[in-house]
Amino acid sequence: MDLLQAMKERHSVRSYANRPIEGETKENLQNYIEKCSKESGLHLQLVLDEPNAFDSFMAHYGKFSGVRNYILLAGKKNSDLEERCGYYGEKIVLFAQMLGLNTCWVAMTYKKGAAKLQLNRGEKLCLVIAVGYGLSNGVPHKSRPGESVMNVQGTPPDWFLKGIDAALLAPTAMNQQKFVFSLDRDTVSAKAGLGFYSKIDLGIAKYHFELGAGTGHFRWK
Ligand SMILES: Cc1cc2nc3c(=O)[nH]c(=O)nc-3n(C[C@H](O)[C@H](O)[C@H](O)COP(=O)(O)O)c2cc1C
Repeated sequence: MDLLQAMKERHSVRSYANRPIEGETKENLQNYIEKCSKESGLHLQLVLDEPNAFDSFMAHYGKFSGVRNYILLAGKKNSDLEERCGYYGEKIVLFAQMLGLNTCWVAMTYKKGAAKLQLNRGEKLCLVIAVGYGLSNGVPHKSRPGESVMNVQGTPPDWFLKGIDAALLAPTAMNQQKFVFSLDRDTVSAKAGLGFYSKIDLGIAKYHFELGAGTGHFRWK
């Protein structure tokens, strides 16, 4: 499976089988998370076999069951922390999908206090990603029309439209898809709309856009 296919096959999964992540899969996932931590400067951490963070009223209300593994996304408090968590978190999500795992981004419906993380000074826990072997592969979400998330003059090039299609496959909080991509010659800018966690959503959508459009076609403003 390549990244484009992983992007199409990824859907949020909230019910997990009682099967541990082990062997090569565990090693590959751990190594990739470490690589993303180094590259991003974020504090990203895989927690395995820890059921407490998803053993709460909120988690059950959010229809989670069997979650025993999750990835913590934290980092130094600054203005781009959320977008960066979105971008690198989605890299990990799609990598996990290629390893045969399922995931769900979770900002609200988990027990933050129980999540096992030793924060360093000045760091903030942004959110977590549940990960494991799903009882299903989830279902595709409904999407806004492409025209409502882009701002272009005239007919946009094919690569831009492919980027938009990819961005619309991205997971967003409450499936809000509040982002707009604008094109000016070969420069693309992406803006988050108003909404909960919309900066995290923007980082996720920007990674998808890059995969769909191909980074050789444009530069970010
Ligand atoms: C930043 C962010 C926060 C989210 N928080 C939660 C959450 O607290 N609880 C939950 O059940 N789903 C949560 N989700 C999952 C979204 O509901 C889901 O991605 C969206 O409905 C689209 O569905 P899909 O992921 O299957 O494509 C979150 C997603 C994102 C991107």
